[in-house]
Amino acid sequence: MEIGLFQDASSASLYAADIVGALISFKPNAVLGLASGGTPIKLYQELVKRHKVEGLDFSSVTVFILDEYLGLGKENLNSFYSYYNENLFSHTNLNRSRIHVLDGKIEDVKEHCKAYEEEIRKAGGIDLQILGIGSNGHIGFNEPTSSLVSRTRIKTLTRQTCLDNVASFGSLTEVPQHAITMGIGTIMECRACMLLAFGGSKSSIVAKAVEGPISAMIPASILQMHPCVQVLLDQGAATDLEMKEYYEHQVQNFKENMLLRMRA
Ligand code: PGA
Repeated sequence: MEIGLFQDASSASLYAADIVGALISFKPNAVLGLASGGTPIKLYQELVKRHKVEGLDFSSVTVFILDEYLGLGKENLNSFYSYYNENLFSHTNLNRSRIHVLDGKIEDVKEHCKAYEEEIRKAGGIDLQILGIGSNGHIGFNEPTSSLVSRTRIKTLTRQTCLDNVASFGSLTEVPQHAITMGIGTIMECRACMLLAFGGSKSSIVAKAVEGPISAMIPASILQMHPCVQVLLDQGAATDLEMKEYYEHQVQNFKENMLLRMRA
């Protein structure tokens, strides 16, 4: 695991866009895993900008989304499908047939999850997975106590996750109680991961995830076992880290290291 301490969220997001851009340049048919939430929005804005200004070409790129609320259809403005459409899909030349999403309205969830795993496999696996981290340490909607080898499936959301998302829904009763999420085992099979965390509200969970013991209580901590993960932090999110100076130093070789590993 490589942890990089950036000046601020903008420079970390520009760095993440550089990595995605580099991947698409050397592998135009790259497979990207996408995360929702507030954290990666700047990254998506930058990718859209690079598409519009520099012609970054998404036409052969395949994408898979990490998770979706159960019960919300594509048309629902709070669905993650709407989020991706608004922040990325509709502003790039991504080919709709290469966009793979989880359907919150699906009747046979079990079959849908199985088929999603199969689609990832058929696409050749995910080259780069973007991740955020929940205030309880979740990645995707793999809540604390999730099996560390889980596959795409339905998960019950914790009260903390529902509270964290209440702003978009207006009231706690409106927040879906369940979600469909790629499993931790699914995420661990991605060839590379970039986890982004910004702001002081993430500092305590980031410290537990990257410097604490691996535990199903902190699902993101399993990334310590992944051979190619970079954690991009701003100053706020790094407040509680013991080895801060090292991460500040390490960030200088970050791009070179990531590109080398992704090309390997
Ligand atoms: P956030 O969500 O980016 O909105 O903080 C992260 C997550 O819950 O995974």
